[in-house]
Amino acid sequence: MHGQVYAFVILVCFMFLELTCAFTATSIPKICKRYVFPTSSSKFATRRNENECISEIPIILDCNFPDDFIESKAWGRYPILLRNAFSKEATALINQQNEEEELDVEWPSWSEVMDLASDDEAESRLITHIPSKDDSWELELGPIENLQMNHEDRKWTVLVNDVDRFSPSLSEWICRRFDMIPQWRRDDAQISLSDLGGGIGAHCDDFSVFLIQMNGTRQWEVGKRKISSKEELEGHVPDIDVRILNFWDQEEGLNLTKKFILEPGDALYLPPRYGHKGTAVSDGCMTLSVGLRAPSAKEMMTRLSDDIVDSIEGKFMARYQDPDLLDGEFDNRNCIDDVVRNKAKQLLRNAVEEILEDENRFDSFFGKLVTESKRMRFDYPISLDTLNVDEKKDLGAWGDPETAIEAVRDGDGFLFTAEGLSWAYSILGGSDDKLTRTFSKSSHQMFLFS
Ligand SMILES: *[C@@H]1O[C@H](CO)[C@@H](O)[C@H](O)[C@H]1NC(C)=O
Ligand SMILES: *[C@@H]1O[C@H](CO)[C@@H](O)[C@H](O)[C@H]1NC(C)=O
Repeated sequence: MHGQVYAFVILVCFMFLELTCAFTATSIPKICKRYVFPTSSSKFATRRNENECISEIPIILDCNFPDDFIESKAWGRYPILLRNAFSKEATALINQQNEEEELDVEWPSWSEVMDLASDDEAESRLITHIPSKDDSWELELGPIENLQMNHEDRKWTVLVNDVDRFSPSLSEWICRRFDMIPQWRRDDAQISLSDLGGGIGAHCDDFSVFLIQMNGTRQWEVGKRKISSKEELEGHVPDIDVRILNFWDQEEGLNLTKKFILEPGDALYLPPRYGHKGTAVSDGCMTLSVGLRAPSAKEMMTRLSDDIVDSIEGKFMARYQDPDLLDGEFDNRNCIDDVVRNKAKQLLRNAVEEILEDENRFDSFFGKLVTESKRMRFDYPISLDTLNVDEKKDLGAWGDPETAIEAVRDGDGFLFTAEGLSWAYSILGGSDDKLTRTFSKSSHQMFLFS
């Protein structure tokens, strides 16, 4: 068992409902003053369902993030290249090396990320390969003590997950720069380090991601269509530890991919399931992936069944009953007939509905599910239980869950700045509620999870 970890989750209504509703009307803007958007669709678009393939990947030059990104309507719909969206940050990081004075740098440096890769509290991986040899991919799990390449043709990438949980300045930066996305949708900040030629191969993810070039340059090949989980499973290079799409060259041949070179400060947004392949085209190549999360029905169902295992009352306890079994005449005793089937379905429906209709219970269930860490941690973050009185005093309001929640309610600080903590909120009430009401005392409920 790992130590008890306090996570504070403030849940107030369903802001996410509002969001999903706003995203249902899918249409790709054809003419947009600052976007490069060809009007005719690619001839290859007809190869598959036309809607599944976009004619071109739009580019925003000199992107004012997030406003231009929001205006592009790309979120959740199609990939987009955001040039110079984070130039200020990239410049500060690059200047940090040259200047003596203290700079306001919110991104971690190369050496800080390398240090984290060698720390067994963080999750890190080393992925190496020999270019153009598909079966040469190798994966080594961290901590990575020192980078010793046994083969000089091997190109390498170090990946570190959860960097934001170790770097409060990066965590705050994400909150500030991505404040259009609700906190609960946040997964982690992963940073990859590579020298020339390093990469992790063609793959696709289940979640939206912003790939931000921090330093050096990386070439990205981006797919113009979604790849289904089934296609991915059936089309990956077998017998290696890294999942690489084996049909990427074919996609490229069919004009279904597009190449971009990202310079420091450029970013690429990818909705779930768009294939992509990044290759460092310089040394010192550092890429930040701001990953989002979204639960699947399968995950919710699985988690729900874990939750109900311990229940002792309610409709999940109801059992199939048939007191009328022997009342009438039966001629088909070996069949599960419509009567049985409908009765069983109703039993299940009643039980699920009971949870869906109990807002407190659903919020608690959903809040826990979407804010728990996806990565296993044993000693990190430190449990409040292990701190002595003085240490707790040093933490001020944050040393106690109740006072911490009070502090947030009063508008003092944000729980997300505490390392290792993730939290979510929504607003109870009407859909016209705005963020400003989040902390009003009358309209929210709070849950303290352990
Ligand atoms: C690939 O698609 C782009 C965008 O539709 C188009 O401009 C280009 O001519 C295509 N290339 C080939 C080889 O068909
Ligand atoms: C950026 O990359 C260059 C090489 O391309 C390297 O010399 C430099 O140290 C890197 N800077 C940072 C801040 O990582």
